[in-house]
Amino acid sequence: MLSTGYRRLLRPALFAAAGGDPEAVHEATLERLEQLGRHPHLVRALRRLTAVDGAEVELAGIRFPGPVGLAAGMDKGARAVTAWQGLGFSHVEVGTVTAHPQPGNPRPRVFRAPLSGGLVNRMGFNNDGAAAVADRLARAGVRRGNGAAGVPVGISLGKSKVTPLPEAVEDYLTSLRLLAPHADYLAVNVSSPNTPGLRRLQDGGHLRELVTALVAETRTLAGDAAAPVPVLVKLAPDLGDEALDEVLEVCEDAGAAGIIATNTTTSRDGLVGLDQRLVDEPGGLSGAPLRDRARAVVARVSSRSALPVIGVGGIMTADDALALLDAGARLVQVYTGFIYAGPGLVAEITARHARRQAPAGTPSLGRRA
Ligand SMILES: Cc1cc2nc3c(=O)[nH]c(=O)nc-3n(C[C@H](O)[C@H](O)[C@H](O)COP(=O)(O)O)c2cc1C
Repeated sequence: MLSTGYRRLLRPALFAAAGGDPEAVHEATLERLEQLGRHPHLVRALRRLTAVDGAEVELAGIRFPGPVGLAAGMDKGARAVTAWQGLGFSHVEVGTVTAHPQPGNPRPRVFRAPLSGGLVNRMGFNNDGAAAVADRLARAGVRRGNGAAGVPVGISLGKSKVTPLPEAVEDYLTSLRLLAPHADYLAVNVSSPNTPGLRRLQDGGHLRELVTALVAETRTLAGDAAAPVPVLVKLAPDLGDEALDEVLEVCEDAGAAGIIATNTTTSRDGLVGLDQRLVDEPGGLSGAPLRDRARAVVARVSSRSALPVIGVGGIMTADDALALLDAGARLVQVYTGFIYAGPGLVAEITARHARRQAPAGTPSLGRRA
């Protein structure tokens, strides 16, 4: 119902707005959500409408009120971090944030593929830098264990473009030290196709050094008093089976707490009709064309490793989300599906997940009081 209203009324208006420039629409929407976040009572009221009993999930020692989070990239600077829960999200992955502020690639850098249910982007980690984002999170009262007034906050870390690959570890560590106090978990992004050389950090040796150093630093920061902030690793869907198996072994050895699968793909399979104009557009493809590959990666990770998985990629319907959970994901995240289907998608996935979790014979699950 909510999804139909969004698809018929709001989405056509949003897609036509700002001369059809997706990034301008994104910025305007983020600004509205930022304003909403300044009214905690309103967010709480919305949260009460969208929260569902019995949908809770646990991962890496964190309790999530539901199974659907906001994927990284939507709120890179944590501008609307307290508002997303009002739309039903069970967690928000802020970022990707880099140690140095950077403008990202020249515009245009996001392209819709409406016939295929996809997006191509080459944003290039445009962000205000770790110090500014840490400051914003502090001012919003977001800190570990408290999250965005209740829902957990993950923070995605990436490499600054100006930092050469051999200095990547120190670059990530700079961001980690600034941002860890505000994070319920950290996501190591080594899988964006839009920072030259970044995906090479998925190679065994590089990855081992990086994840080992980051996990060690979380242990140092936590001291004896608290459990360290869990470090999850976000992977590309374009790794072959052998490379994936090697990555999993490294992540386990290095002390990662989980895997996020997957980032966008460099493949252009699944673009149909006029959307094929984007075949040669550099960037990562997300949405429906990514669905089958993301599901296959989640299934392989789950069958090969004991690390818990957050599944992301191509969730356009509640059925897609449930299939990813059935493939072994414990939580899911959405980005492109949220653009195409709106907040109703989050509500529907959450409700259906709760119904599946309910013990047999339990009467219908109500909204949380
Ligand atoms: C415009 C855009 C920007 C993105 N930026 C990031 C990012 O900064 N960091 C990251 O880890 N993933 C980023 N992603 C990838 C998403 O988090 C997600 O992994 C991917 O889009 C697949 O999910 P989807 O099919 O639901 O969109 C971005 C995706 C899009 C479309």
